[in-house]
Amino acid sequence: MTEPVIVGVDGSGRSLRALMWATHEAALHNAALRVVHVLPTWEHDIPFHPPGMWLSVRDHGVDILTEAATIAKESRPGLDVSAELMVGHPAAVFVDLSKQASAVVLGARGEGGLSNVLLGSVSLQVSGHAEAPVVVVGYVSGGNDRILVGTDGSESSSAALAYAFEEASLRRAALHVLRAWGLPTPPDDSTVPDPEQIAEDYRQECERGLAVLRARYPDINVQVELVRSRPSDALIRASGRADLAVVGSRGKGGFHGLAVGSVSHALLQDASCPVAVIRSKSPGKA
Ligand SMILES: Nc1ncnc2c1ncn2[C@@H]1O[C@H](COP(=O)(O)OP(=O)(O)O)[C@@H](O)[C@H]1O
Ligand SMILES: [Mg+2]
Repeated sequence: MTEPVIVGVDGSGRSLRALMWATHEAALHNAALRVVHVLPTWEHDIPFHPPGMWLSVRDHGVDILTEAATIAKESRPGLDVSAELMVGHPAAVFVDLSKQASAVVLGARGEGGLSNVLLGSVSLQVSGHAEAPVVVVGYVSGGNDRILVGTDGSESSSAALAYAFEEASLRRAALHVLRAWGLPTPPDDSTVPDPEQIAEDYRQECERGLAVLRARYPDINVQVELVRSRPSDALIRASGRADLAVVGSRGKGGFHGLAVGSVSHALLQDASCPVAVIRSKSPGKA
């Protein structure tokens, strides 16, 4: 039995887009949809809140959930939809729920935070720590029939490739595999590397990473593109022609104190389509 798709709703417009995306995803995977609203606990709890305040906050949460569950059921009659009100730190709650989910779907930005910040802190934190794929829905394009996946040969990007092939197969979409590259800085005494040779080496590395998946999904139309550019720029540009962009949570380089690498972070901020962030399953690895 496929594990449920979990969607976080907070009553904001972006979370309704996430709801619609999650409803479609659950139907595609033949999975149940769990609609979740989290009532946040405050770190510095207010000791004397006015009588009835907690009840009114809870009632508001119930209203948000009821509306969301009704929308989901109406758009997909027959889909198994449940709604749950939870209390805690929203990011921690979704990370916990991800242990029994086929995906966690969140809006790019919720009710809280600064209005000029597009990516909410909950979405960012969950993307870095969840055990299931996390799909952050900001803009929904649709109709491109193409899924984009960024690969750098890292362990999480292999997990991203596997997820991207599965999604492309379910959605009958084409797959755009993008590998951005730059010239390595040559040591002082060496000759300048030949860019064409480097691109060819990257292409071969990329093809080696795709061989098993190509064989498993022979019907998918796969386009492999090597781009000499900053990876975040190339992926953000390509996201304009995709219905979903898939990346690993971490890559080959970077500062490993961060849960989400800089390329994934940039894409979460600026992609023109929903972004799926995938963590590698290997314990202790990115
Ligand atoms: N050069 C690249 N070309 C295409 N995709 C990339 C590239 N670098 C990173 N990515 C994508 O972004 C994900 C996260 O990598 P990144 O943000 O660079 O993390 P890190 O900082 O750990 O290297 C990778 O798993 C991959 O999906
Ligand atoms: Mg990197």
